[in-house]
Amino acid sequence: LSSIYVDVSGVEVGTQLRVKFLGKPVFIRRRTPEEIEMANSVDVSALPDQDARNENLPTGSAASDANRALATPDGENAEEWLVMMGVCTHLGCVPLGDGAGDFGGWFCPCHGSHYDTAGRIRKGPAPENLHIPVAEFTDATTIKLG
Ligand code: FES
Repeated sequence: LSSIYVDVSGVEVGTQLRVKFLGKPVFIRRRTPEEIEMANSVDVSALPDQDARNENLPTGSAASDANRALATPDGENAEEWLVMMGVCTHLGCVPLGDGAGDFGGWFCPCHGSHYDTAGRIRKGPAPENLHIPVAEFTDATTIKLG
């Protein structure tokens, strides 16, 4: 598999980048403290899908916000960055972002799936949280996908 390097130096807090990786959209969001707090205020055991769906972690890791976020190299603002496939886990439409849906995260208009600020499914037909691809920071402003 080929990797790509994404420069995220221009991504302000509260905005997101959309890039293409292996022919699919990937959302890279730099979350606000409010979005992170909202994601952390949820009881994981109450979520429809309790798996982090994070390829960087062992299968079955809990869908906590910390297990969904991408850690920065210096460990600062550890939960600020969220990197996810922009592919609804229902039938593959591209969800709308920037606070869309009932849970302030993403909304898939195809059949009405609502994802929260950590990209976890909260309401609607999608069975799983938005998937998190293999990703890491290679320096303070570069994310490597794959
Ligand atoms: Fe997203 Fe059906 S494809 S809700």
